[in-house]
Amino acid sequence: MLQFYLNDQLIRTDQPAGSTLLDFVRYHQHLKGTKIGCREGDCGACTVLVGELPAAGDAVVQYQSMTSCLTPLGNAHGKHVVTVEGINAARGTLTPVQQAIVQENGSQCGFCTVGFVMSLTGHALSARPSTPDSVRASIDGNICRCTGYKSLERAAAHLHGQLSARPATEAVRWLADQQFVPAYFAAMPARLQALRDAAAAAATGGSEAPTPPAMPALNPLDAPAAARARILGGGTDLLVQQPERVRATPVELVFDQTHLRGIRREGDVIRLGAATTAQQLLESDVMLAVLPALPRFLKLVSSTPIRQMGTVAGNFINASPIGDLTILFLALGAEIELADAAGQRRTLPLADLYLGYKQLAKTADEQVTEIRFPAPAADSDYFNFEKVSKRTHLDIASVNTAAWLRLEDGVVQAARLSAGGVGPVPMLLPKAAAALVGQPLTQQTLRRAQEAAQQEISPISDVRGTAQYKRLLLRQLLEAHLLELRLLTD
Ligand SMILES: Cc1cc2nc3c(=O)[nH]c(=O)nc-3n(C[C@H](O)[C@H](O)[C@H](O)COP(=O)(O)OP(=O)(O)OC[C@H]3O[C@@H](n4cnc5c(N)ncnc54)[C@H](O)[C@@H]3O)c2cc1C
Ligand code: FES
Ligand code: FES
Repeated sequence: MLQFYLNDQLIRTDQPAGSTLLDFVRYHQHLKGTKIGCREGDCGACTVLVGELPAAGDAVVQYQSMTSCLTPLGNAHGKHVVTVEGINAARGTLTPVQQAIVQENGSQCGFCTVGFVMSLTGHALSARPSTPDSVRASIDGNICRCTGYKSLERAAAHLHGQLSARPATEAVRWLADQQFVPAYFAAMPARLQALRDAAAAAATGGSEAPTPPAMPALNPLDAPAAARARILGGGTDLLVQQPERVRATPVELVFDQTHLRGIRREGDVIRLGAATTAQQLLESDVMLAVLPALPRFLKLVSSTPIRQMGTVAGNFINASPIGDLTILFLALGAEIELADAAGQRRTLPLADLYLGYKQLAKTADEQVTEIRFPAPAADSDYFNFEKVSKRTHLDIASVNTAAWLRLEDGVVQAARLSAGGVGPVPMLLPKAAAALVGQPLTQQTLRRAQEAAQQEISPISDVRGTAQYKRLLLRQLLEAHLLELRLLTD
């Protein structure tokens, strides 16, 4: 049975874990404020907030905006789901977010408005200080067909002004005083903790429990050898592709498995849990220490709500030839750990996972548990990611590529180049990389690498561009790596 808070109400439901939070909210709870637009995570009309206690005993709930059309209902377990019906302190009063949108004429037909309100309310609840950029970025997953956005940007700027007074501690009380959220929000940490305690007690047969897991499901790796249910991460690929099938079949939820979360450095190796989200990568001090430009790269990946839902392993296993995280981790030299239902583990270089279009070198019951890569060295290693798509944000790539280079005295000692959109799988370009090794980074070296890359790729013409265009793009993006890293010497 799934249990979570929906606004001020405790919910217990037997609805399938793979059904969508959107359908539950609208059709089971009859909360119709949350709108349905695309059902593909693109428009943001269905945005809700999902809050969780990061760890047992924490006093602050972390809220994230999510597109409820792609949020598996099971991923709400143990959390606080907030819809637009749950944010007004009293009937007939507007929150400061709603007031700002009214004041700046940020709503016309109104279909998108609830989504904008929820994203901006999520920004108000964020533990990070508000900046002009961060408040604007909080609505990067919301589309409006009427306003032209300027009025919404003014509303966002207006809010940023108000939020500059938000204190660093006791922020929820301040937000409740200012009527951003109702007073019941202050009780949510204790309520979510009580849910955890009850789940942990139930799991241990009522005895005193140690730190309970975020998701009180059986650890899949402790399960007896048996065929696995369909693994479901953030749902941002699977619930776009097969929502009915996922709803109708048993799923194994991995998003909240604590042993699949977390990013840490051990010696020269960075290790991340398979259920790490793109947003967690973006906010990780461990990642930023070795890849300071990561926020620039990841801003090109989906939108804030989708980054808060989609996992790294989901990106790898979806096996899209243009998966951005896959391209990034290929060039980082990542390997994955796989565990089958019996608990047998093996390690595989990420590049060896891809056998052909959507064909993987793994059995159906193998789950990705961990991703590891050698930490780039600060003094000798260079890394860059490039992506070209039809529009800069919230779009999939026509061609993407990443480069890792190790230099000594201006000469390349080792290199890894990856590319997507130029073949049936996301791929490494070993011949192009070999053309760089042992060479200074001159125009001549670059041309040799570009020529070698052309021999390794086999793009096809499709909606994202002709084969010829993709060849041209890769050629130019290889040069862009060296220009961006300021490594080209003549
Ligand atoms: C609006 C929108 C925009 C997007 N933009 C981009 C973009 O710019 N770039 C990009 O690369 N992608 C993009 N995506 C795709 C998607 O967000 C990513 O691929 C994401 O990383 C998928 O992760 P997930 O956890 O949501 O996967 P899910 O949908 O949960 O799962 C995807 C597949 O992985 C399997 N799986 C998940 N976790 C595991 C595991 N631990 N072990 C084994 N199998 C597992 C599932 O069974 C399924 O087959 C976008 C998606 C949407 C909806
Ligand atoms: S309905 Fe469009 S993002 Fe969910
Ligand atoms: S006000 Fe009509 S879509 Fe935004």
